[in-house]
Amino acid sequence: MKYSKFLLILFTGFVVSLGASEAKKAIEKRIAPVGSVCIQGQDCGTAVAETVADSSGARSGEAVYTNACATCHNIGLAGAPKFADASSWGARPDKGLEALTASVKNGLNGMPAMGMCMDCSDDELSSAVQHMLDSI
Ligand code: HEC
Repeated sequence: MKYSKFLLILFTGFVVSLGASEAKKAIEKRIAPVGSVCIQGQDCGTAVAETVADSSGARSGEAVYTNACATCHNIGLAGAPKFADASSWGARPDKGLEALTASVKNGLNGMPAMGMCMDCSDDELSSAVQHMLDSI
């Protein structure tokens, strides 16, 4: 009888200390710095690597979109077809990737030429358009 009480105390102590270490971990997670600097050449996780460049050195469609196009296309500024909102695109997707990319390159009404990505290659513009089409 005495022995089992001892075991119970031991067990309770174990559970309490386990709970405390879990709480400590949760607090450490909460007070961890929000961002971390990723230096080129460092392994900073695949998510970062993916948005920076593919093997040919071209930026991904997502990266170009986020940097150059999102300002207008996230909110539909000046009548821009919205990201992930098929109804705002209407029949535009029927024009095809090539014609849509040409619109971006040359500009179209409220959209300035190059979609404001002045250093974008044709491929990068096309990837950005594809990224938008994939969202709808
Ligand atoms: C300054 C705001 C602005 C920026 C920046 C911008 N767009 Fe646009 N975009 C528009 C507007 C406005 C339209 C609608 C033009 C129209 O049909 O009158 C449009 C239309 C489009 C269309 C449809 C073209 C068509 O032929 O129907 C595509 C595709 C597109 N944008 C892609 C992009 C991409 C890719 C980028 C970034 C590289 C970009 N846009 C940057 C404002 C913008």
